[in-house]
Amino acid sequence: MAKGFTVWFTGLSGSGKSTLAERVRDILLERGMKVEVLDGDEVRTNLSKGLGFSKEDRDTNIRRIGWVCHLLTRNDVVAISAAISPYKAIRDENRKLIGRFVEVYCECDIDTLKGRDPKGLYEKALKGEIKNFTGVSDPYEPPEKPEVVVDTAKEDIDTSVQRIIGTLEQLNYIPAGDGRGYSDDEEESIKQRLKDLGYI
Ligand code: ADX
Repeated sequence: MAKGFTVWFTGLSGSGKSTLAERVRDILLERGMKVEVLDGDEVRTNLSKGLGFSKEDRDTNIRRIGWVCHLLTRNDVVAISAAISPYKAIRDENRKLIGRFVEVYCECDIDTLKGRDPKGLYEKALKGEIKNFTGVSDPYEPPEKPEVVVDTAKEDIDTSVQRIIGTLEQLNYIPAGDGRGYSDDEEESIKQRLKDLGYI
């Protein structure tokens, strides 16, 4: 039986993709799985070194990450991607290529992101010092049917992590853990979402 799958985070810069990806990775590692995280910032220093932020370069970046996720997934490794991946069509291309694909939309309103701004990029983008900055002066296309939506402006990290883990359990990508970290209500809402998406 196939054991690999891909968790594909998408959302604006600073929306929590890397933090959540690391937390999910740690839980899966603890449960004995093989896991690799492909983080946007990191990928751009090696696999995609030299690429910029035009639509064409972003698409190339996301296709490359998707290809590596595909290779890992088919070799029973859990691949976790944490890149903005702003364009729906390329994410859907990766979904099709990979098959076992769980999309996690990290929602966060722009005012909260401007407030966080750990790298000072929003400030620069708003002053026009960075061109084509996603969410400010470049498009972001939210997913229409993500398996999980987390609103990192409104909920804490643990809640988001538990919803992602709960979804992986409900989809039978991972066995149910002993200490369940989510409530009955939360489990019901995960099931309802997966029903609406036609999984169960
Ligand atoms: S993606 O669009 O190709 O998916 P990716 O996730 O790899 O983007 O890289 C985004 C990171 O690059 C941001 O978190 C930020 O640190 C940095 N960055 C630099 N310039 C831009 C820009 N114009 N738009 C978005 N992010 C940028």
